[in-house]
Amino acid sequence: MTLRQRLLRTIMLVAIGLCLGGAIAALSLTQEQNSNSSGSFVNAAGVGGSYSLLDQDGKTRTDQDFKTSYKLIYFGFTYCPTICPTELQKISRALQNLSPEQSAKIQPLFITIDPERDTVAVLKKYIELFDYNLMALTGSPEQIEAVKKAYKVYAAKVPQGEDYTMDHSSFIYFMSPDDQLLAIFRSDDTAKIMSEKISATLN
Ligand code: NI
Repeated sequence: MTLRQRLLRTIMLVAIGLCLGGAIAALSLTQEQNSNSSGSFVNAAGVGGSYSLLDQDGKTRTDQDFKTSYKLIYFGFTYCPTICPTELQKISRALQNLSPEQSAKIQPLFITIDPERDTVAVLKKYIELFDYNLMALTGSPEQIEAVKKAYKVYAAKVPQGEDYTMDHSSFIYFMSPDDQLLAIFRSDDTAKIMSEKISATLN
């Protein structure tokens, strides 16, 4: 095998590994949904849990701070070139489709899966890109690991030249004020689908 062939083979194996990781993470969520619900409205026991993190102003935030709000929670990282910004924009459009009274009941949260690079200062700059009341949360690697586990989030570092990127599952969790999972929205769920389901739940 030439060097080029060996390189290609390595890249292919890594790609297969990443896809499998993502597929397994997606599968465990799907199975939970099937056993508990119809459609993508779910009452999945075991998704969610307590956490203590820092917001974009360095203020400690725990799950207890959001007990009066519905939540739309997205896990991602600020260096993500496409999927994370697309999903965060989608949340903005979904909220715009709701009445002001409805959207006031919802706290959108962006939780980083890349705490090494996504510091408080980085998150502060990042959420300025979005035109709604998005709150961004980071923490120590241990704190992020705990919240990822609670929400069954898959994320893994992937070397990229001298640097790295993150492979991660991409779900928007719609949680009730008392942290019951109401729905999971996937990348192919549109803002319209989201706002219809949210609206039906709030009324
Ligand atoms: Ni991403």
